[in-house]
Formats: sequence, structure tokens, C-alpha cells
Amino acid sequence: MTKDSENDVAKFSRELQEQIMAELRRTYSPAVIDHWQNPRNFRQLEAADGYAKNTGSCGDTMEMFLRVKAETITECTFQTDGCGTTVVCGSVATEMAAGKTFLEALGSVSAAEILRVLGGLPDSSVHCAQLAAETLRRAMADYLYRKDEPWKTRYRKK
Ligand code: FES
Repeated sequence: MTKDSENDVAKFSRELQEQIMAELRRTYSPAVIDHWQNPRNFRQLEAADGYAKNTGSCGDTMEMFLRVKAETITECTFQTDGCGTTVVCGSVATEMAAGKTFLEALGSVSAAEILRVLGGLPDSSVHCAQLAAETLRRAMADYLYRKDEPWKTRYRKK
């Protein structure tokens, strides 16, 4: 490959990336793009105090992991095999939940609130926020179910 053709490929690649980003900015808010490029808390937690695995109506699955101390969610992480907006919604949900008591999290982390923080999503992606909020609720329910009976931890799947 000559120097000129290398420069052409690099220029084409840069222009293509710029076009893609311009298209994304027309559809998504800066908050969505930020969480998409830098997802927060996208990892497993070993020996989590609360855990849930939930599959949404589209077939995508999200897992959520909680660390809880004195009824406060000190850490909240997630994983998903879903699309970019699923990652974005999981990222926002975990940020919203961390540092909150159970009551605060139940009262404030919802699909509507995730969508508000993100400045909205296209209609076709609203269910991604519902998947994230529901998975968090199930992880909290798992914690409550097991907290007084730690032996149950040995029998759960994760
Ligand atoms: Fe299925 Fe996002 S497209 S959860």
C-alpha cells in the first residue's frame, strides 16, 4: 500500500466515524452518547448480596449485582448481551442505585426516571429502560429474600 492510499483509507475512516457520530447526535442526547461510550459499572460482582438475571420482551438479557451494607446499596453493577441502549440504561440504573437505601432506590429508580436522566430514547428503545429498572428491582428482591437466610445463597444459580 502506498503512502497516498494509506492516507486515503485513514481519511475515509475518519469521515465515516464523523458521519456515524453526527447521525447518533441527531437521535440521542449527550447523556446517552456519554454512557454508551463510557458505560459505568459494567462488570460482575463476586459474592454479590443481591443478584438478578432478567430477559426482556426483545430477548435481551441483563444481570445485576448488588453489594449491600446496612440496607444501603454500596455497589451496583451489571452485564448484558443487549444493544447499545440496553448498556446505556444499565449504566444509568447502576449509577442511580449506588449509595441509596433500599427505600430510596425503590422510590427513585424506574424506567421513567432512567429515561428522564437520558433525555429520552426513541420509542423502540424504551423497553431497554424497563429491562434495567426491572432487573434492579429483582436484584433488590433477591437480597431481601436471602438476607436473613444466608444458606439460600448456596442454592441459587449465580
Ligand atoms: Fe432489547 Fe435493548 S433492544 S433491551
